[in-house]
Amino acid sequence: MPDLIIDGLRVSVPEGTTVIEAAETLGIMIPRFCFHPALGSAGSCRMCAVMFTDGPVKGLQMSCMVKAKNGMVVDTGHPEALAYRKHIAELLMLHHPHDCPVCDEGGHCLLQDTTISCGHSLRGFKGKKRTYRNQDLGPLVAQEMNRCIHCYRCSRYYQDVSGYRDFGPMRIAGGVQYGRYTDGPLESPFAGNLVEICPTGVFTDKPSRHKARHWDLERAPSVCLSCSLGCNTTVCARYRAVVKLEARESAEVNGHFLCDRGRYGYEYANLPERPRTATVDGTELPLHDALAETAARLKRIREAHGGAAVACLGSSRQSIESQGMLASMASMAGWRKPEYSTGSHRKRNILSALAGLGLDLHVSLAGIGASDCVLVVGAAPLSEAPMLTLSLRQAARNGAAVCVIDPRPLVMPLPFLHIPSRKYDMESCLGAILRRAFPDPGPDSSPEEAAFLEALAPEMPEAAATPGWEEFAAKLASARMPVIVCGTDIVSLSTPPLAAGVAKFLAGRLGKAGFFPVFAGANALGAALMNPDPDTSFDDIVEGIDQGSVKALICVESDPLARFANHSRVHEAFEKLELLVCIDHLPSRTRDKARIFLPSQTVFEAGGSFVNQEGRLQYAHPAFACAAPLSQTLENGDPPRTFSQGVPGSEPRPSWELLTRLAELSGMSCCPPGETPHPWNGVASASPVLAALSSDAWPHNGVLLLPEKGCGPGLAARPSAPVPDAGADLIITEQAFGTEELSSYGTILRSLAPIPQVMLHSLDATTISLREEDYVHMACEIGAVRCYVRMVENMARSTVVLPRRDDSGWQYATANGYTVELSLLHKHVDGPGEHGAHGKPEEGDA
Ligand code: SF4
Ligand code: FES
Repeated sequence: MPDLIIDGLRVSVPEGTTVIEAAETLGIMIPRFCFHPALGSAGSCRMCAVMFTDGPVKGLQMSCMVKAKNGMVVDTGHPEALAYRKHIAELLMLHHPHDCPVCDEGGHCLLQDTTISCGHSLRGFKGKKRTYRNQDLGPLVAQEMNRCIHCYRCSRYYQDVSGYRDFGPMRIAGGVQYGRYTDGPLESPFAGNLVEICPTGVFTDKPSRHKARHWDLERAPSVCLSCSLGCNTTVCARYRAVVKLEARESAEVNGHFLCDRGRYGYEYANLPERPRTATVDGTELPLHDALAETAARLKRIREAHGGAAVACLGSSRQSIESQGMLASMASMAGWRKPEYSTGSHRKRNILSALAGLGLDLHVSLAGIGASDCVLVVGAAPLSEAPMLTLSLRQAARNGAAVCVIDPRPLVMPLPFLHIPSRKYDMESCLGAILRRAFPDPGPDSSPEEAAFLEALAPEMPEAAATPGWEEFAAKLASARMPVIVCGTDIVSLSTPPLAAGVAKFLAGRLGKAGFFPVFAGANALGAALMNPDPDTSFDDIVEGIDQGSVKALICVESDPLARFANHSRVHEAFEKLELLVCIDHLPSRTRDKARIFLPSQTVFEAGGSFVNQEGRLQYAHPAFACAAPLSQTLENGDPPRTFSQGVPGSEPRPSWELLTRLAELSGMSCCPPGETPHPWNGVASASPVLAALSSDAWPHNGVLLLPEKGCGPGLAARPSAPVPDAGADLIITEQAFGTEELSSYGTILRSLAPIPQVMLHSLDATTISLREEDYVHMACEIGAVRCYVRMVENMARSTVVLPRRDDSGWQYATANGYTVELSLLHKHVDGPGEHGAHGKPEEGDA
């Protein structure tokens, strides 16, 4: 540990720490532009000069380029260093347009702050300024190249961290510019980070452009709900609308960055069509009256048919507080236990993965970045958990071996081995890799480990024997910190426990290993804590409605009409309900169908707690008071001329509060007499794991809700799923943009979603005489779709992959586990262009 003195203060830092970082640990911020903790040093801006007055290095040096050494004495405020930095600031500002008054970065601009703090306040340069032509980089990022100071942060981030090559530095000397070879949308699904990584206003957020100054914003720390990773964000709101989301640094979860799905997936909160008023049988009512009517109707149904006639469906986008209150209310009223997922397969998979999660195998995203060997099974990182891709890339950059066993065509910005096995072969592939890595149990193995190994099939399925798998197995055998990542969307029920078992085996043999499951939904783990019974599911509720035993359904922030696999079945069942209540903030299909609608607040207004897939409980703070955005209430640009006591659109309440008030109107008591209901009341009574906690006292990094060891079946051998004899596997899958529920309500990300296509292996497509862009009709047990064909090489044979798209009708056929006969595909029409302006399937295709 080098020991040095900076500005008279002694500090010891780990070996390899730069002087600029060492100063930071003392709270001394040396000015910088090119240095960034996630990018390291480049030495290109010369802004971080300090004076080394004694020790192994002497004189004026760039503090980001010098590693801390024993005996160094550093003066950051030395007159020579100050003068140097002042001249550098002046130099960097030579060509800057001085357009702070119209620049979105103004007010939180590193260049602005540094220039002022370095004392450069008068412009002496009289020459002609260098100017550039700006490029159109797509809908997310705006470019103003004239503001550039050539620190190279953007290109280092874009190429090194995000791993894409369509953007970078071009031209030479004083004419260097950063952009694309030609205008066009940035290809990286992490492009939005350019906005934050740029220390000046070259790259600014296009959707929020010119909407607010930094000091105008209402800001609050929050958590992203667009996948299960729970990246930390900062909500920025103005005039009752979310203006933008920023990355909030979290060492364990997302580091300094966000994916674009998370960053731009907030539009659902601002939609003009967002329902903000309670309705009963299509008539708008004050919220209290609608709640009273709901309580009365539920009471009548319970008295007539019993408590089991009332069912509830929550979701994995609900906060823990809302999930807990729903569970607690159902229990008090004697209703059925709520379900939180529309898919029984998904619920069971999550529960089976959860059983393997414990502190012994816990690993965070940062841990994956530091791993030297990562094996992914049944997960498409870029689509299901985008920021996982950056961690995998980080690991690969450090020399880690990365292998993905998955039938889908995968693209990731990193070198990795893709084993495109059929989905029923994934476990065999995992087993074969482990058997190749550890052919014998070894003398130190426990009988349990030996039995686990011997129960695995030793042979790699022939169709999946991709060149390089044996080399990967060899690397796994000697890994320092291997991690097994396991998806829960397309895998069999036995896969997550097997993956957890492999991680446990590796931990036993190698001393350390991690298990990292990926779920669907921000609070899928919270939902699993609320209803951990694998034998119940929403299918039972639909069955109950069909058979007449369920008469009322309460959907809380869930949309079964859009998310249940067999749409026509749930649609028919809902016709038989006596009462459908919907509590939500989305203009969903279930809301359109509901007899009673109660408006709830979004996470940006209500706040809430969410448990990410690694078991980390995090709190999202409310950012602003719920009401209709000012832009939607203005009349011809002026405030409304009608006056009332309330703020327009402020009726929605947090869903936990709506449930609490409903319970009270139904004669139930949610808190001790005389006390005000607390969001955590329902949680505490619904989940023993959470009862001892309250969001009031969580540390910045959240709380890990994991037992010491996973309580699952551990290393016990378990049978694999049976492989169907014939037919192709149908896989309906997420995409990076356009399929996730919340973010797909916005126009920004929908514009980036590709045209819906069915993906087939080229050889399979050729066998049935299909070509790229053929327009086909395909059918399986529960529906049919029409779409274009995409032929790909890097996917499993005998597999049909469909992106999950609400607006394409494909959602109706969502059911992993169904098989589709390829012989049922019919070449329908020859080419695109005859099927709507955007080439999308026509209405009613499903
Ligand atoms: Fe949100 Fe997931 Fe993207 Fe993180 S990776 S920003 S949680 S969508
Ligand atoms: Fe050190 Fe740029 S921050 S040279």
